[in-house]
Amino acid sequence: MTAQELRKKYIEFFVSKNHAQISGKSLIPENDPTVLFTTAGMHPLVPYILGQDHPAGSRLVNYQKCIRTGDIEEVGDSSHLTFFEMLGNWSLGDYFKDEAIAMSWEFLTSPQWLGIDPNRLAVTCFEGDDEVPRDSVSAQKWRAMGMPEDRIFFLPRKDNWWGPPGATGPCGPDTEMFIDTGLAGSDKSRPGLSDGKWLEIWNDVFMGYRRNADGTYTELERKCVDTGMGIERTITVLQGKKSVYETELFTPLLNRIAELSGKSYNSGTDLDKSFRIIADHTRTATFLLGDETGVLPSNVGQGYILRRLIRRASRHARKLGVEGRFLPAIAEVIIREYAEVYTILGQKKDLIIHELQKEEEKFLLTLQKGEHEFEKLLPNLLKGDKRTIPGRLAFKLYDTFGFPLEITEELAGEHGFVVDRNGFDDAFRKHQETSKMDDNATFKGGLADHSEATTRLHTATHLLHKALRTVLGDHVAQKGSNITPERLRFDFSHPDKMSDEELTRVEKMVNEQIQRDLPVSIETMSLDDARKAGAIALFGEKYNEVVKVYTIGDFSKEVCGGPHVQHTAELGKFRIVKEQSSSQGVRRIKAVLEV
Ligand code: ALA
Repeated sequence: MTAQELRKKYIEFFVSKNHAQISGKSLIPENDPTVLFTTAGMHPLVPYILGQDHPAGSRLVNYQKCIRTGDIEEVGDSSHLTFFEMLGNWSLGDYFKDEAIAMSWEFLTSPQWLGIDPNRLAVTCFEGDDEVPRDSVSAQKWRAMGMPEDRIFFLPRKDNWWGPPGATGPCGPDTEMFIDTGLAGSDKSRPGLSDGKWLEIWNDVFMGYRRNADGTYTELERKCVDTGMGIERTITVLQGKKSVYETELFTPLLNRIAELSGKSYNSGTDLDKSFRIIADHTRTATFLLGDETGVLPSNVGQGYILRRLIRRASRHARKLGVEGRFLPAIAEVIIREYAEVYTILGQKKDLIIHELQKEEEKFLLTLQKGEHEFEKLLPNLLKGDKRTIPGRLAFKLYDTFGFPLEITEELAGEHGFVVDRNGFDDAFRKHQETSKMDDNATFKGGLADHSEATTRLHTATHLLHKALRTVLGDHVAQKGSNITPERLRFDFSHPDKMSDEELTRVEKMVNEQIQRDLPVSIETMSLDDARKAGAIALFGEKYNEVVKVYTIGDFSKEVCGGPHVQHTAELGKFRIVKEQSSSQGVRRIKAVLEV
């Protein structure tokens, strides 16, 4: 079964169980500063799991592109990936454990669907602790479906509890489904041990709680189900392959890498790892550059992760003996393979290729510069009698010049030196602790905890969007929106820097709408009808979905998930604090509301 067949079957199955198909969203969470990336299918649905009504109903299904970079150092083995696709189905206060498990079982085992031999399956359930009781309901249901007793495992919170994706939000106990890979594993092999025998392919989370900023949990009034099945993993086992890299999602990439580098994959040497890192990282970078929101390499936030991925991939291309730029050619294959499912990749192809070229060239210069800096350090180092390069020096090369540790070590080796790795790790850890503190500050700004301030800024964003279209023209389209309790940030397509006069007009227009105290109303309708009614809709709503449309008086109409204030006078005074370039053809405005 190919990835595309699995995507189709999954959607078809849940649609046959009265689920509405909704589109997957951007890799960059909208209006949610608590996390950098969309890490699971449920992420764009958080407000609905927490209680809002979803316009498409209470049973939903989709596939969602996701990024998880927590295991980035593990990439290169047979299974870890930074980008993956997740299939998911949701119940928003509709069915709960019994029906969710019955549907999971049917989809996995029925010959009409995946037809997996039930003897190859095992499940885990939450064993319970002081706060939340043991999940015997799920275990009982699995038994009733025909799962033998010795294939049902109860595990603690660290295994069978999921969420929230950021610091706060919905979470709950889960039941996870595993498939026997046929590998030997260890003596005491069981699901949840990563010895290769049992591979998790699906997770049904019973969202019953909300984690608050102070670490306490509140029970949700309306219980939900959130499930996730990783496409790459699942087709790997269904195809009887040992690694995701042997599936059709990766073989065209690996072949191209081999063709261009002249090296062969599966040689059993360290080069295999480089092949896999190049394939994985370039795939993630391609999807980030080609995202609806669009991310460009930079030194902060998502852009920094993107830069790291590109640089690491490019460095591994050097290991394969490649000299010039390499990644754009690999991205071409990725775009070709995925453009049917993710049409936006085709539309953004030129930008993706161009940005990869630019970033890789920059990195190649960095490598040269780093070598040069190293040469400069050398005479002093040679004066000492120790043949060790202090960790802080290696870290400085890494931090200031982007010079990778491995390359410092290689160069050091050529001159008879070793790098003090512990010293490097210490310097690295200190640096990380500092950035973690920054991260915590970001988490504190989460939508959930400052809902009033962010809601007001969200409504102001709609006014700003419309004002920009009125003053600059209809070519203005939202390219990104990010709101913290302090300010809004809005990226939009426009070729030139805005003049002072244009800025003043936009600011004035927004303030006029605030003073008119326009009512904000909400309707649900099909996306088609919304477009016909003149609502601004973001690219990315692919199906003819039922959507929410927010109307602000006679001024603005926009497809949006909310939330918003009820009257514009609640906003106070709108002030633009900055207008700057965000990327080629995209401007960025930062603005605040003053009371
Ligand atoms: N949100 C759950 C997961 O990512 C389904 O595993």
